[in-house]
Amino acid sequence: IKRIAVLTSGGDAPGMNACIRAVVLTAHTLNLQVIGYRHGYNGLLSRECQPLHPGDVFNIIQRGGTILRSARCPEFVTEESAHRAAKNLDDMQIDALLVIGGNGSFKGMQHLAKFWNGKLIGMPGTIDNDIAGTDATIGYYTAIDTALEAIDKVRDTADAFERIFLIEVMGRHAGFIGLASAVGSGAEQMLLPELLENGQIDVDAVVAHVEKTRAARGKCSYIIVTTENLYPGGATALAAELNRRMKVDCRAAILGYIQRGGSPVSLDRILATKLGAYAVEMAVAGQHLMMAGEHHGEVVAVPLEETFASKPLDPYLVRIQRDFFDLLKLQG
Ligand code: F6P
Repeated sequence: IKRIAVLTSGGDAPGMNACIRAVVLTAHTLNLQVIGYRHGYNGLLSRECQPLHPGDVFNIIQRGGTILRSARCPEFVTEESAHRAAKNLDDMQIDALLVIGGNGSFKGMQHLAKFWNGKLIGMPGTIDNDIAGTDATIGYYTAIDTALEAIDKVRDTADAFERIFLIEVMGRHAGFIGLASAVGSGAEQMLLPELLENGQIDVDAVVAHVEKTRAARGKCSYIIVTTENLYPGGATALAAELNRRMKVDCRAAILGYIQRGGSPVSLDRILATKLGAYAVEMAVAGQHLMMAGEHHGEVVAVPLEETFASKPLDPYLVRIQRDFFDLLKLQG
């Protein structure tokens, strides 16, 4: 192959730039040309692209966001759009397209594969870590650190006022950021989609646990980590409901998009660099509809189809966190 293309798609994640950089530098060492498409799949449709040389990726390894910009592209489900993208890629003589993104972006690759003959390789780029076949996704570690920094600060004020705080983290429909930030912050309670019976929060059980903890410890701060998309109206509505049922003040803090930004932490930079380089090598080796992932510290090539499987939370972490706060009996 002579020419590859790269794009970033869906929710941006810290480390995407490090990944683009690794793609460009690896391609350079293998004498391949690189084209960067801007604004995700939208750029494929509108031919918004630029050549990427090593000089273009100088000094970006530490930057959050993505120099190629990102976007969601709802129209990329139609045959017409995939045909157009395929034609544009062929006109540019692209042999392989490398996509840095999450589940939705990988679905886009499968759709494009029906209409295009080039090779397609994915790299898992999302803070949510909800992609099977890789132990971590690019951006996940930074999002955890960002959440922890915020929760530590909330803990200070919660302690000063002996208040209850509900902290809502991102994750779309997965509890990876939630579990990691609950464990890392020593949160007393965690409400995660994977751990709820019938997908419902048992508000009575939450109240019972708060009361039990405060009866045992005396008046104290109490942190509940919850993920987005769990309770109708989100953490604000749940905090209002808890306020209604208990005499203690309960406030909500929604961390939101700060979790997507910032300079990537070391683990994300290194993971992104590894996966970017490996994805180029996979394309050169003729692999197609595969994802570059990492398992037990080793790079792995994973069939794209397998990345959509459900990925379990670390059961050991769940167990010890529950044991520490005796949540087992209360949360099912
Ligand atoms: O996938 C990353 C993510 O930040 C999720 O955690 C969140 O649910 C979603 O993207 C938000 O999407 P948008 O940027 O479209 O608001």
